[in-house]
Amino acid sequence: MTQAHLTIVDHPLVQHKLTLMRDKGTSTAGFRRLLREISLLLAYEITRELEMTTVRIQTPLCEMEAPTLEGKKLALISILRAGNGLLDGILELIPAARVGFIGLYRDPETLQPVQYYSKIPNELDARMTIVVDPMLATGNSSVAAIDLLKAAGARNLRFLCLLASPEGVARMREAHPDVPIVTAALDERLDDHGYIVPGLGDAGDRMFGTK
Ligand code: URA
Repeated sequence: MTQAHLTIVDHPLVQHKLTLMRDKGTSTAGFRRLLREISLLLAYEITRELEMTTVRIQTPLCEMEAPTLEGKKLALISILRAGNGLLDGILELIPAARVGFIGLYRDPETLQPVQYYSKIPNELDARMTIVVDPMLATGNSSVAAIDLLKAAGARNLRFLCLLASPEGVARMREAHPDVPIVTAALDERLDDHGYIVPGLGDAGDRMFGTK
């Protein structure tokens, strides 16, 4: 099965938790707990196409040929700093995943990404590589991160976010049409500062309690 370029996870639990996260009255602790819970549900969707093989095992009753994951451990790449909020939850589900970090900040004037850190796992050409960042806003950081990962050999990439803007999705589709995006919602638009509207505010500030 080939995956659509954009998948919106419309599961009731995801949508309910997202509404609580959007609400500005939700505390930092509440936001973090919801982010961890929602990331487990989104991870379930984005790993749907992991390759499988079988292994011969012995149950208490008999031998059987049982399904198991094939190939190298997948790679999770967090775009700092907000990506780490999604990463923690996904790692609970996939504890053996390899983990990388890409540090990019948005120049407030140009809204262009500036890289300040990169540490990524080896053999990306043999791993499903999932890039995580809660907010797909202008798409500039996501495109830059995926450029870097492709240059390092990654071929089987996915992008996981909580909220996407139409502008961000279009930018990704233009630059990386081969990278499926999984999100909990596609919002209306970006404002003049590059924030997603209606959105949930600054995801990093909301999860770390900074301002
Ligand atoms: N980053 C955020 O944290 N929030 C937005 O709305 C856009 C980018």
